[in-house]
Amino acid sequence: MAIEIACVVGARPNFMKMAPVFEALRRYPRLRPTLIHTGQHYDQAMSRVFFDELKMPPPDVNLEVGSGTHAVQTARILERFDEFLEQSRPGLVVVAGDVNSTVACALAAAKRNIPVGHVESGLRSRDRTMPEELNRIVTDVLADFLFAPSADAVENLAAEGIDRSKVHLVGNSMIDSLRRHLPAARARGAHARFGLTPRAYAVVTLHRPSNVDDPDGLARILDALRELAARLPIVFPAHPRTAARMETLGGPPLTGVTVCEPLGYLDFLSLMDTAGLVVTDSGGIQEETTALGVPCLTLRDNTERPITVSEGTNRVIGSDPAAVAPAAAAVLAAPPPAPRTQALWDGQAGPRIAAVLAAALDALPLSAARAEDSLRATI
Ligand code: UD1
Repeated sequence: MAIEIACVVGARPNFMKMAPVFEALRRYPRLRPTLIHTGQHYDQAMSRVFFDELKMPPPDVNLEVGSGTHAVQTARILERFDEFLEQSRPGLVVVAGDVNSTVACALAAAKRNIPVGHVESGLRSRDRTMPEELNRIVTDVLADFLFAPSADAVENLAAEGIDRSKVHLVGNSMIDSLRRHLPAARARGAHARFGLTPRAYAVVTLHRPSNVDDPDGLARILDALRELAARLPIVFPAHPRTAARMETLGGPPLTGVTVCEPLGYLDFLSLMDTAGLVVTDSGGIQEETTALGVPCLTLRDNTERPITVSEGTNRVIGSDPAAVAPAAAAVLAAPPPAPRTQALWDGQAGPRIAAVLAAALDALPLSAARAEDSLRATI
């Protein structure tokens, strides 16, 4: 009987990290990967479009947890995912990234002694005020298979005393998705739809509570964008959280800034690919711009992805929005950076993860649930 591997997704950045892993697991006849969507993100533009464009089948199960405080959302996921585990009894659970769905599902599985694989393990910002940092630390403590995207992540896990035999340096599965879908993204020419010329515009995304939740801070960010827009046009696909805060804030018009709904995966990749500059507080976009060779300014005090700075095109400019315009001027005056290829960001992380799990599953002691099932099968 094929072993069920429950692959968990919940929020927008999970989809592109999990799609290549799910696809690679499907190639093993003795494994039966299923897709479990927690429903942390639920809007068409935040969820469904990614399934379609990444060519993932619809989720087998949607837990429909929706939005809430961190405690409420995490608790709802724990409860509903635990019910799923009780009914389905998968042999293994795979989680990705650092969102609330990641930590909640890892905890529910670990409590049932079901082994957990963590895709994108070992990243650390060392900033515990960031909810994602807590999610990363807890998930890595619970996981049995820690899939690190880069060597710095392996070092972070070693420094926390995590057994090296659990850690697998496999590369970055989000970059698998980027490499696979870049031709389709390029064919879209999204810049033209916004009336823009390649390399002569900036893309902005901001959604971190630390940037957008404080009205004064957000007002200062919008002032910084007005200043940048005097130099080059900006497209700003706004996350629902950010859009809501901007609406409440009001203020003078954002001349030169096209604020739009969140874009799908292919359109956003296309828009980034031909941008002259990206300004963001996202984690994944720091990596995607590095892979594309597009300059990125990260409006944060730290990053959990330091190789995007040391070996990429990213600059962490701090959280003061006044830094945006001078940093942008410096970047735009410099010759365009060459795309940098990171070791193991080669489009094969998903197959490497699947190979580790397939090999290990044979050797794992049966979980209580599977032992019970095997027992039933022999009676
Ligand atoms: C979550 C992740 C963050 C990730 C981000 C990517 C956590 C702790 N945070 O943050 O790490 O970078 O996703 O987008 O897991 N909303 C909608 N429609 C949706 C989803 C959300 O309107 O489909 C609105 C709701 O008002 C919600 C708010 O956005 O309250 C925030 O959503 P939430 O999932 O709580 O956190 P994100 O800010 O999206």
